[in-house]
Amino acid sequence: MKANIQVLLLVTLLAGVWGKNPFLKHKTPQYKFPAGFPFGAATASYQVEGGWKEDGKGVNIWDTLTHDRPYLVENQDNGDVACDSYHKYKEDVQLLKDLGADFYRFSISWARVLPEGHDNIVNQAGIDYYNNLINELLANGIEPMVTMYHWDLPQALQDLGGWPNMQLAKYFEAYARILFTHFGDRVKLWITFNEPLTFVSGYASEKGFAPAINTPGIGDYLAAHTVIHAHARVYHLYDQVFRSRQRGKVGIALNINWCEPLTNSTEDIAACERYQQFNLGIYAHPIFSTEGDYPAVVKERISRNSAAQGYTTSRLPTFSPEEVEYIRGTSDFFGLNFYTAYYGKEGEEGNIPSLGRDSGLITRQDSNWISSASTWLKVVPWGFRKEFNWIKNEYNNPQVFVTENGFSDLGELNDTGRVYFYTTYLTEMLKAIHEDGCNVIGYAAWSLMDNFEWNRGYAEKFGLYHVDFNDPTRPRTPKESAKVIAEIIKTRKIPERFWQD
Ligand SMILES: *[C@@H]1O[C@H](CO)[C@@H](O)[C@H](O)[C@H]1NC(C)=O
Ligand SMILES: *[C@@H]1O[C@H](CO)[C@@H](O)[C@H](O)[C@H]1NC(C)=O
Repeated sequence: MKANIQVLLLVTLLAGVWGKNPFLKHKTPQYKFPAGFPFGAATASYQVEGGWKEDGKGVNIWDTLTHDRPYLVENQDNGDVACDSYHKYKEDVQLLKDLGADFYRFSISWARVLPEGHDNIVNQAGIDYYNNLINELLANGIEPMVTMYHWDLPQALQDLGGWPNMQLAKYFEAYARILFTHFGDRVKLWITFNEPLTFVSGYASEKGFAPAINTPGIGDYLAAHTVIHAHARVYHLYDQVFRSRQRGKVGIALNINWCEPLTNSTEDIAACERYQQFNLGIYAHPIFSTEGDYPAVVKERISRNSAAQGYTTSRLPTFSPEEVEYIRGTSDFFGLNFYTAYYGKEGEEGNIPSLGRDSGLITRQDSNWISSASTWLKVVPWGFRKEFNWIKNEYNNPQVFVTENGFSDLGELNDTGRVYFYTTYLTEMLKAIHEDGCNVIGYAAWSLMDNFEWNRGYAEKFGLYHVDFNDPTRPRTPKESAKVIAEIIKTRKIPERFWQD
């Protein structure tokens, strides 16, 4: 008996050395999600609501883009009806309940509340809609997490120039005041902006996101500058007027891809560091770093390139010392939208001028990485863990709330690709929490249901629930991934059948 145990131990040890030990291989996924760790799912107003001109809603820049330049969207799709969540919100809440979700991250359509963008006309039907949604969530034990701006700028404000116009910071603050006033008694989790990096690119190309204006390396930097100011104004407004009574949290949701140096040369390592600073740091450094302001490398390179291109001032606006102070520290948590990774190496690519050109690197994805239905989205779970660590080291381990993470396919119900994505990414997140000490405080899957995927229309599906867009009643059906996510939420761990070697 004793000898047998010794033999068994020896075999176990040897198998472990060769990486085949069935006991050792399951080490990581035994990690559990911390008690009370909130799980939820996310959507955005233009992508799901429909009701584009109902009950006094004003027109926004995505209504304009899809109606006036339908050729910019796959199949000329639009969000006029989308998932019809404007009428089916009660059903949406039941989907969340079936998942066991702790919270629902949704966004408010600015033009549904303020049809002209300004606060002189408040659309009561818009207020009613969001009140109904919030009350339905709370009645079902689901916490609302509200994004104030998920890309659907009122057209009336675009007519004034949109985000490159610094006056919009003031208008955004006025809009936020309306939201805090009407909903802040029940909403305790606020996100000012979703993915500024992505939506300011609407000022960098006439072919992509609304408003699709072609001023790369100028309009997008001006827009970013306004958005950072607007975010800080709303944070201070909450502090000064609402926080003591409402006791909520205000953050911002920033998106970034991991950049893995193609080689270990100092040049490639520095190139990937610039990738982080130009794409994430440009927003995160002013808000989350101890010194504030844009990252030094961003200021230096844009200034140098601007001069070389004949501009007498930098294409990147500057913050005064007072503004640096005003913006620094204006977030209660770090919202992170994360999907994929790239290899990076030093080099030049992209339009002259442009953010890509200013950042001075070439990015590529590995053809061996698992694909999704989106050209940009390869499945790279280890990048998730590396990104958590980068944020931890760069910004003194802030509370990171994952506000988006998800996978696209063509809408199949047995969505094995999405199940693989979630189980492997969440495993890496658990390692970041338990092995690396990263301060991850919540997680939202993107998306609750299939919806209007911007310029890709309904061609790429991200939902845990399938939506039949050919049926006028837009029926929702749970996919395999919805069942797996429900199991993860319930058991607080990755089910053993998904553990990887
Ligand atoms: C670079 O070095 C790191 C750490 O030693 C290693 O994990 C990585 O595989 C190396 N990358 C390349 C491309 O050699
Ligand atoms: C889903 O597809 C996988 C892989 O083809 C298969 O093993 C599994 O049984 C399927 N699940 C269902 C519920 O059909």
